[in-house]
Amino acid sequence: MKVLISGGSGLLGREITKQLIDGGHQVAWLSRSPRKEGKIERFEWDPDTGKLDPAAISFADAIINLAGASIAKPWTPHYKNEILRSRIDGTRLLHEAVLKSGKKLEAFISASASGYYPNDPEKVFTEQEAPGSDFLSLVCQKWEQEAMRFEDIGIRTVRLRIGIVLDPKEGALSKIAQPIKLGFGAPLGNGQQWMPWIHRNDLAGIFIHCLLSELIPSGVYNACGPQPATNEELTKKTAKVLKRPLWLPPIPAFVLKLILGEMAATALSSNRCSAQKIMDAGYQFKYPRLEYALRELYLN
Ligand SMILES: NC(=O)c1ccc[n+]([C@@H]2O[C@H](COP(=O)([O-])OP(=O)(O)OC[C@H]3O[C@@H](n4cnc5c(N)ncnc54)[C@H](OP(=O)(O)O)[C@@H]3O)[C@@H](O)[C@H]2O)c1
Repeated sequence: MKVLISGGSGLLGREITKQLIDGGHQVAWLSRSPRKEGKIERFEWDPDTGKLDPAAISFADAIINLAGASIAKPWTPHYKNEILRSRIDGTRLLHEAVLKSGKKLEAFISASASGYYPNDPEKVFTEQEAPGSDFLSLVCQKWEQEAMRFEDIGIRTVRLRIGIVLDPKEGALSKIAQPIKLGFGAPLGNGQQWMPWIHRNDLAGIFIHCLLSELIPSGVYNACGPQPATNEELTKKTAKVLKRPLWLPPIPAFVLKLILGEMAATALSSNRCSAQKIMDAGYQFKYPRLEYALRELYLN
């Protein structure tokens, strides 16, 4: 299959690309930068200006939609708008281009995030739960609404509410591990907030499973592992695998809020998500246990 990935140059896109190519598929990226990386073809687009190379749509049998401005930069009002707009405008631009081309895609698989759900340490979030009302939740809701336009034109459309993707070099785990490696690691807030972690290999596996399994109907699935961990557990297990001591008390929530402002929600929110629906759809996790996942990432 020929798979076009918007934002394919990022952490998730590179892992999905690797697994697709290993499986004998052809991959191209939609990117704001036309620079070619290795053997991966890039088609240029710019959601800001509405530019998209029509050859990208001609290439694609299916599209994986990942593009969006990072949420790990300071949330100024201007940047919050970029986080939102990059996802909405990008998904809308793709939809318009597909509609214009008349191309019948086999599938449209779009990222969303577990941030869709409200902060609630007591609940286990299945896909039916109502969304939250904070900034990230609103972004996810609008992003998913845009993705659903593909469903409206008869394309099998899967939205994946991605949890915290574990990778040793990029993303949340690398930020948690950095102070641990220096001997200054500590849980955040009361440490009891649930973190819906997933090994990068399983995350890519879920995208590809949804892409290739024609029997998976349009809909939304949580893309997080079957055994969520608390922040304290994730911090302790990371320290154990890295063989570093944890001696500092937890960093109080108010300190994080002072430093990070509204963005502290990304570290303090509790989202215990269920992986039952994606398992019922036939996905078998390779890394269901946290310590095993961390060992594979750091010690292999
Ligand atoms: N990593 C996680 O733990 C996680 C968890 C939940 C949800 N997600 C979502 O999954 C998607 C992929 O995650 P990731 O970790 O791979 O992200 P990433 O490493 O930041 O990569 C995202 C890609 O999107 C493109 N991009 C960045 N800013 C953009 C903008 N303003 N307009 C259009 N495109 C832009 C970039 O590609 P070019 O520079 O080539 O254009 C970039 O490589 C993101 O939307 C993210 O929100 C990730």
